Amino acid sequence: KNLPNGSGNPRDFIAKMKESKKRIVIFYGSQTGTAEEYAIRLAKEAKQKFGLSSLVCDPEEYDFENLDQLPDNSAAIFVMATYGEGEPTDNAVTLTQNLSDESFEFSNGGRDLSNLKFVMFGLGNKTYEHYNAIARKVEADLMAMGAHRIGERGEGDDDRSMEEDYLEWKDGMWEAFAREMGVEEGQGGDSADFVVTELETHPPEKVYLGELSARALTRTKGIHDAKNPYASPVLASKELFEVEASRNCVHIEFGIEGSGIAYQHGDHVGVWPSNPDLEVVRLLCALGLYNKKDTVIGIESLDPALAKVPFPVPTTYATVLRHYIDISAVAGRQILGALSKFAPTPEAEAALKALNTNKEEYNQVVHDGCLKLGEVLQLAASNDITSYPTPENTTAWNIPFDIIVSSIPRLQARYYSISSSPKMHPTTIHVTAVVLKYESIPSQKVNAKWVYGVGTNFLLNVKFAATGEQAPMIAEPGKAQPATVSVPSYAIEGPRGAYKQETMYKVPIHVRRSTFRLPTNPKSPVIMIGPGTGIAPFRGFVQERVALARRTVEKNGPEGLADWGKIYLFYGCRKSTEDFLYKNEWPGYTAELGGKFSMHTACSREPPYKPDGSKIYVQDLIWELRDEVAKAVLDGKGYVYICGDAKGMAKSVEEVLQRLLGEAKGGSGEVEGAAEMKLLKERSRLMLDVWS
Ligand code: 2AM
Repeated sequence: KNLPNGSGNPRDFIAKMKESKKRIVIFYGSQTGTAEEYAIRLAKEAKQKFGLSSLVCDPEEYDFENLDQLPDNSAAIFVMATYGEGEPTDNAVTLTQNLSDESFEFSNGGRDLSNLKFVMFGLGNKTYEHYNAIARKVEADLMAMGAHRIGERGEGDDDRSMEEDYLEWKDGMWEAFAREMGVEEGQGGDSADFVVTELETHPPEKVYLGELSARALTRTKGIHDAKNPYASPVLASKELFEVEASRNCVHIEFGIEGSGIAYQHGDHVGVWPSNPDLEVVRLLCALGLYNKKDTVIGIESLDPALAKVPFPVPTTYATVLRHYIDISAVAGRQILGALSKFAPTPEAEAALKALNTNKEEYNQVVHDGCLKLGEVLQLAASNDITSYPTPENTTAWNIPFDIIVSSIPRLQARYYSISSSPKMHPTTIHVTAVVLKYESIPSQKVNAKWVYGVGTNFLLNVKFAATGEQAPMIAEPGKAQPATVSVPSYAIEGPRGAYKQETMYKVPIHVRRSTFRLPTNPKSPVIMIGPGTGIAPFRGFVQERVALARRTVEKNGPEGLADWGKIYLFYGCRKSTEDFLYKNEWPGYTAELGGKFSMHTACSREPPYKPDGSKIYVQDLIWELRDEVAKAVLDGKGYVYICGDAKGMAKSVEEVLQRLLGEAKGGSGEVEGAAEMKLLKERSRLMLDVWS
C-alpha cells in the first residue's frame, strides 16, 4: 500500500516518533479512560526511569500500516481493555481487526512484524466470561506475525485488583524492557508534566467552572459525545423506594430536546458526576488551598504529546477538585509513596512511606477502609479523619498542585442503562439508579464509615436539589457527617448560570450506543430477566412495544396485535410494598399490550417462600414456567435478555436457562443446554447487560 509517509501525515505515528525523538509508542484501547490512564502512567515511568519519551496514541487517530517499520531501538506498548462480551473498546476496533485480518498488509508488503518489540498490559474483569480476551488476542496476533514480546503480558482485574495487578506486573516488565532496549535505570528524572500559574486578573466569563468541554464556553455547536457532553436540564426526579429512608433508588428524567441527541431503547447514558463537598473541602485543606479555593489558575502541559491538560482551563482550584479529577477513589499505593516527600512532618512522611511499602498495612487501612487521598493525608498528619476539615484543624502538605493534576485521574462519566423508550419519551432520557452506599471495614487506625458511590450519590443530590428537598444529614457510623454534593454549585454561583436556570438544574450527559435491543419483528417472543435496577432497560423495552402497539391498534385495530410474540418480564425485588420499581406503571402496559405481555415478580423477602423456607428469586419463577419459556425460545426463535447483577443473579439465571433448554431438547443442561446457550449467544438471541 502506498500511504503518504513521513511528516505531514498526522496519522503516521512512526514519523511523529522520529520528529520528536521518541523511542516508545503506547497504544491504548480505552472505553471509560482507565486504559488511557495506565498508558500515560507507563509513559511517565519510562521517562522517570530511563529518560525515554513516549508517544501515547489513541489508536483511532493513527494508521497501522507502518507497524512493521518501528526502528530497532524502539518498542511499542499496548494497553488494551476488554469490554462487554469480550469485545474491543470502540477506539480499538480497527486496530484489532487489522491485526487479525489476513488480507491486511503492512507497508513493507505482507504481514511480517519481526522488527516489532512489544509489551502488553490488558484490562479486564473476571466477573465476565471473556477475561482479558482482547489483550490475549492482540498479543497472539502480533506474535503470530513474528513480533517479539518483551516480558510477560500483564493482566489487570477491574473487579478486584487492577492497581495491585499493575504494580505487581510492572517492575519485572521494566527490567525486561531495560535489557531489550539497552537502557539503564537512573537515566531519567522526576520531571513535572504541568505548570500551574495563578492568574491575577482574568475575565470571569472565560473561567471554566465545571464545564466539561472547551466548547461549552466558546459555544461552538457540535455533536454531543463523551468528549463534549450535553448540559441537560433535569426535568423530573423522584424517589422510587416507598419506605426505608436508608436505601434510595432515584428516577431522573434528563431533557434532550433541541440537543441533537438521539437514543434507542437499551442504550446507555453517561452521566458526569461531581465530588461530594466534604471531600473537596478536605483535600483543599490538606493541600493548604482552602483560602485560595476560588483563585483562577492556568495549567500548561510541558510536553503536550505525553500529557494533555485533562480538562478545560483556566479554572479554579476548587473546580478541579470538585468537577474534574477523581478525588473520591480509594488512594493508590503508588501515589502515596510519591507524595511522602511533601509531608509537613517527619511522622507524616513515615506514615505515608509505611503505607506505600507495607502492602498489608495499606490493604487494611486504605483499601479496606476505603480511604480517599484527602483522608489519607489528613490521617497521616493528624491521626484523625472524623472531624469536619477546616484550614485551622488541618495540617497542610506541601504538595505542588501540578503533581495532583498529573497523578489523580480525571473524573469519568458513570454509565446507566436508559430506562425509557424514545418512542414514548422522545425528548427525555430516564435513568433508574439505586444509590450505592456501604460500610467500610474498620482497622486499628480508622473506624468504619459510610462509603458512597460517587455517581449514584450525585444523582441522589441532583434529585434533592431539583425537588427543593433538603439533603438529609446522613449519619456516619459513630459520627454525623453529610455526604452532600452541592449540585452543581459552580453553576449556581457561576457567572453564566450555566447549570442552574431558574429552578432548573443541568447535568452533563452523553449517550453510548448499545446492541441491547428488541428484535425488530414484534412476532418474535421475548424473555426479559431483570431483578432490582436490572429492570431499567426493560422498562424501555416494554414502553417501546407499547408505543408500537398503540400505532398498530390505531391502524389495524386490536387484531393488529394478534400475531405478535409474547413478551415475558421476570422481575425481582425485596417486598412488593417497598422496592417494587414503577409498580403503578406495569398494569397500564399490560392492559395496552392485551395479553402479549406478562410480568412475573419474585418478592424475595415476603411470602410465599419455598417449602424449605428459602427465598424465591427470578430464576425460580423461570423454572416454574420452563415449558413456556423453552417453547418461546426454541420453537418461537425467541430472544432472551438478562440485566443486572453479574455475579450472583446472571450466573444463576444462565444456569437455569441452560438446564430448561437442555431438558426441553430431551437432553441435559451440560450438553444440549450448553450448546443451545452458545448458539443463542452467537446469534445475538441471548444478550446480557450486567454489572458488578
Ligand atoms: P435479596 O436481597 O432478598 O436476597 C433485587 O435486588 C432482588 O434480587 C432482591 O429481591 C434480591 O433478593 C434478589 N437477589 C439477590 N441475589 C440474587 C441472586 N443470586 N439471584 C437472583 N436474585 C437475587
